[in-house]
Amino acid sequence: MLLKNIFNFELLLSIFKLFPPELSHSLALYSLKLLYKLKLVNIFFPRFKNQEFSFLGMTFSNRLGTAAGLDKNGDFIDPIGALGFGFLEVGTVTPKAQIGNPKPRVFRVFDEEAIINRLGFNNKGVDYLVKRLQKRKFQGVVGVNIGANKTSQGQKRIDDYIECFQKVHHYADYITVNISSPNTPGLRDLHNSDNLKKLIDSIDEEIKVCKYDKPIFLKISPDEDSNSISEIIHTINESCFTGLIVSNTSIDKSLLSNKDFHDYEGGLSGKPIMNKSTKLLSIIFKEDSSIPLIGVGGVMDHEDFNKKINAGAGLVQIYSGFIVKGPKIVKDILKD
Ligand SMILES: Cc1cc2nc3c(=O)[nH]c(=O)nc-3n(C[C@H](O)[C@H](O)[C@H](O)COP(=O)(O)O)c2cc1C
Repeated sequence: MLLKNIFNFELLLSIFKLFPPELSHSLALYSLKLLYKLKLVNIFFPRFKNQEFSFLGMTFSNRLGTAAGLDKNGDFIDPIGALGFGFLEVGTVTPKAQIGNPKPRVFRVFDEEAIINRLGFNNKGVDYLVKRLQKRKFQGVVGVNIGANKTSQGQKRIDDYIECFQKVHHYADYITVNISSPNTPGLRDLHNSDNLKKLIDSIDEEIKVCKYDKPIFLKISPDEDSNSISEIIHTINESCFTGLIVSNTSIDKSLLSNKDFHDYEGGLSGKPIMNKSTKLLSIIFKEDSSIPLIGVGGVMDHEDFNKKINAGAGLVQIYSGFIVKGPKIVKDILKD
C-alpha cells in the first residue's frame, strides 16, 4: 500500500501523455514491463473475480481482450496479460520487418477520446514475433493478427499471409487475417469479393495442409456497405474461417466533431467509431447469428462493453480505451 502511494502509476501515465504518442506508448509499456519484472503489477492492479467464459472450444478468464496493434511484436505479452485481460491479440505481423510510414503517424484527440493512426504495419517481422510467442508465460489466450508487407502486390500479397500463417499457427491460440488496415495501400481492396475469395481459398488450402484446427478470424473494416458485408458473410460461410472481428479503424474522420482533423490521413479509432462499428456488428449478427463475432471499436467503459455483447459479440477487444483511460479500464469494464 505504501509503495502504491509513493509510486503513483496513474500519475506517471498522465505525465507520459505529454510526450509524442509513440514515445508515450513505449514509455507506458516499458514501465508496465518493469512493474511486472518487479512482481508489482498485482499491487497496482489487483485481480478481480474470475468471469470464466467458453468460446469456440477455448476457455477465457473473461471476455475482454486487447486489439491488434497494441503489442505488434509480442514484446509485452506477459505484462499486459498480468493486467487481467482474458485474451490478447498481437500483431499485425508481416513476413519481413518494416518501418511503416513516416512520422508523425499517430494523433491523439483526447477531448473526443479518439486516435488517428497511419502507422502502416511497422513491425519486427514474423520470425521475431514467433520467438516472443514461444517465450510467453501468460496462461491466457493469445491470438496472432497477420498481414502483408507494403511492397507486396497481387499474388505476393497472398503469399505473405500464407507465410505468416505457416510460421505462427503452432504458437497462436487463434489467427486473425487482417484485410482492413487503411494504412497499407490497396489492402482494403481485399474486401472485394473476387480478391477476398482468392485470399480465403489460398488460406483454406493451407489450413488443410497444416491440419490447423484452431479458430481463424477475418478482421473487417467498418466502412463497408451492406452488399460487401453480405458477400463477406457468404464467402466466410463457404470457407474454413471461423468468424469475424468487427471492426478495424474507420477512414471517416467526419465522425470527429473537431473539423481540424477531418483531412488527416489514417484510420480513426476510439469513441467516435463506437456506434458505427457496433451497428455493423449487429447487422452481421442479424444476417447470420451463427457466425462467431469479436466486437472492437470505441469501447470506453462497462456500458460500451455490454453494448458489443448485446449486439452479438462473443468477445470484446479494446485499443484506444486502453490508451485514453490507462490500465484501470480493465477493472472498470469487468466490474460486475
Ligand atoms: C495506433 C493503432 C495501431 C493499430 N494497429 C493495428 C494493427 O496493426 N492491426 C490491426 O488489425 N488493427 C490495428 N489497429 C486497430 C485496432 O486493433 C482496433 O481495431 C481499432 O482501433 C478499433 O478499436 P478501438 O476503438 O478500441 O481502438 C490499430 C489501432 C491503433 C489506434
